[in-house]
Amino acid sequence: MSEDVLPRPFHVAIIMDGNGRWAKKKRLPRLLGHRAGIRALERTVRAAEGLGITHLSIYAFSTENWKRPETEIKGLMSLFRFSIRRKVDEISRENVRLRFAGKKEGLPGDVAGLMNWAEEKTAANTGLTLVACLNYGGRAEIVDCVNSLIAEGRTTPVMEEDITGRMYAPEIPMPDLIIRTSGEQRLSNFWLWQCAYSELYFTDVLWPDFGPEDLKRAVEHFLNRERRYGAIK
Ligand code: FPP
Repeated sequence: MSEDVLPRPFHVAIIMDGNGRWAKKKRLPRLLGHRAGIRALERTVRAAEGLGITHLSIYAFSTENWKRPETEIKGLMSLFRFSIRRKVDEISRENVRLRFAGKKEGLPGDVAGLMNWAEEKTAANTGLTLVACLNYGGRAEIVDCVNSLIAEGRTTPVMEEDITGRMYAPEIPMPDLIIRTSGEQRLSNFWLWQCAYSELYFTDVLWPDFGPEDLKRAVEHFLNRERRYGAIK
């Protein structure tokens, strides 16, 4: 598959599921599964650049993930802190622009601060845009859009563009392809507004085992489908 086969922009969104099961299979603590998940993410970012993907978004922490045990939440927050701090220079050298989607309020203050710092530091990069959805929920995003319209005193009918323009990262194109790993076949509140015409791809591979070949397979699956947007060709 060559780079010019993909439409531009081309947005791949990933629900990185199965870190816990991967760790359990290896009799390791769950957090080591999440750490292995970061390595899988690094591989995927590199592979995405090679395939000509322009936007890659990842579901890193959902609004529902707060229901997990406190130790796991703390571990995940430390992993985010560590990864953002350590990886931003490397990401910048690769010309990757980092963007976050989700509610920054509700996250530990220093994590939210690092997110702002990383976004500013990589804002001028022109390569792949990596969107990390952190403290993200699709329903909460739509509710936030509606509330911002109310706060603006909107009294005229609302159009689809009014919602689209008030999303957490409105400049990001809609996902063309959504991948979920680990055999589960649901969206779990990810990109609910944006997924209207996305192709869905499910694989049994656990996220920490996901690699360039898996990404390529998912993109090829997309290319073999015909998207009609409700019309008959
Ligand atoms: C789900 O596995 C995965 C997560 C909760 C995401 C963890 C985050 C990363 C791997 C990287 C994010 C990195 C940055 C820097 C933003 P699970 O625990 O639900 O697995 P299970 O379903 O097998 O229990």
